[in-house]
Amino acid sequence: MKKFKKKLVAGNWKMNKTLADAQVLAAEILRDLADFTEVEVVLCPPFTALKAVGEIISNSVIKLGAQNMHWEAGGAFTGEVSPGMLRDLYCHYVILGHSERRAHCGETDETVNRKVKAALAANLTPIVCVGETLAQREEERTRDVVHGQVTQSLAGLGDDLARIVVAYEPVWAIGTGRTATPEQAQEVHAFVRELLGAAGGAETAAAVRILYGGSVKPANAAELFAQPDIDGGLIGGASLEARSFVEIVRGAA
Ligand code: PGA
Repeated sequence: MKKFKKKLVAGNWKMNKTLADAQVLAAEILRDLADFTEVEVVLCPPFTALKAVGEIISNSVIKLGAQNMHWEAGGAFTGEVSPGMLRDLYCHYVILGHSERRAHCGETDETVNRKVKAALAANLTPIVCVGETLAQREEERTRDVVHGQVTQSLAGLGDDLARIVVAYEPVWAIGTGRTATPEQAQEVHAFVRELLGAAGGAETAAAVRILYGGSVKPANAAELFAQPDIDGGLIGGASLEARSFVEIVRGAA
């Protein structure tokens, strides 16, 4: 039997917003969505604003997420942040393996896998990002690439596989204004669900939320979210302004 799954919309603020600007944005989003429970909403500010944003949305329906973390619990890792530190600030979610980190910060499926396991052990829900580049799509390697990323990033999770969130974010659609069509996105989402089923069984595959990310805007959100295997979105640019983010969240209902 298929259980009801709430859609999830997460705002990935990336390396944007000063402390003061982050507080304003969080307060505006909270004002508009304080009574809105139909969609799960997550804000992922930069590390420097986690505590302040967390205080603004504490005791509300909106949850806090980070954009990255290290897999170790502590020690000599200059510049890194541990899973326990994120829990300490009441984070519920953490984005892992974003394509920008894979491209610019040496993140690999192996490091993502370590991080996913560490996040789950710390009771954080990882939002694990996968997606092909334009060249890979044009070479018709999308399935191969996504297959590799899903199976390796999520290897060895056992029953915990049901506790993760996956974000399919075609690299060519991120920050480019070029969105995957609902059909293109649905096709890959269905494939990801198939892979999850092969790894953890049908019930697990049905339980995991698979988000779409890449130039989601108020104008295209509802159509994307209406696809059978799209369970919400990971929103970059359009999450930096309350009005567009709130509109996208409402579009997911
Ligand atoms: P975008 O970013 O919405 O600005 O394309 C999405 C993401 O990178 O998570």
